[in-house]
Amino acid sequence: MKTDKFSIIQGDCFELIKEVKTNSVDLILTDPPYNLAKHSTGNIKFDWREDVNNDIADWDKKDLEPSKIADEFVRVLKPDGNLFVFCSYNLIGKWYDALDHKFDATNFMVWHKTNPTPKFFKNGFLNSCEIILCCWNKKHKWNFTNQKEMHNFFESPICSGPERLKDPKHPTQKPLSLLKHIVKTASNEGDTVFDPFMGVASTGVAALKLNRKFVGIELEELYFNASKKRLSETSND
Ligand SMILES: C[S@@+](CC[C@H](N)C(=O)[O-])C[C@H]1O[C@@H](n2cnc3c(N)ncnc32)[C@H](O)[C@@H]1O
Repeated sequence: MKTDKFSIIQGDCFELIKEVKTNSVDLILTDPPYNLAKHSTGNIKFDWREDVNNDIADWDKKDLEPSKIADEFVRVLKPDGNLFVFCSYNLIGKWYDALDHKFDATNFMVWHKTNPTPKFFKNGFLNSCEIILCCWNKKHKWNFTNQKEMHNFFESPICSGPERLKDPKHPTQKPLSLLKHIVKTASNEGDTVFDPFMGVASTGVAALKLNRKFVGIELEELYFNASKKRLSETSND
């Protein structure tokens, strides 16, 4: 589906990214599978509340190989573009190895969730932080206005309330407050933001709300259709 504000395709981004034009993207902001499902000890069932989903989803079980998409990220990104990839503790090394040597600079941001899923049995840390690896070249865009904005730490609740889609429910829908903070910091109005692991297009909604254009790819038809609806509604706001 293509409009003047967004262009999205359904399918495997490892293949479809080859159709994205060279040097056409100002910001890659993406949230690939974390491959955490295979470390799961199973969903936790309760009589008195919704089950805790530790198993994530089937798409999380397929081994993700960052080195198989890193060159394509570099190809589609403009030389002054920025790259932000959400990653988990188990994949950060692979993402770092795949990307660091391809850019002038690498750093990371931490997203601290103020309302993480509780650990009912108090048998470990809460999963209250997520890591976002960032890479850029000299001369890249950066829109900081004050020192406070420059902390590589961002605090917000997980996505809930009216923002959280009910049908379909996406297990890892990210909050717009966090995504908008990154889009605002790392791109300009009129720029193109790309998310090859789009989910239900949260990155796209953040981009459109901030007058950027959006390109997205999503494997699952259910989420792709939800993205179409969400992006169309946001375009008409
Ligand atoms: C962590 S979720 C992204 C959630 C997204 N940030 C949101 O807020 O909706 C990762 C998404 O990548 C999709 N995915 C997994 N493998 C893919 C592939 N090879 N190509 C495209 N999408 C893929 C999954 O279906 C899932 O929706």
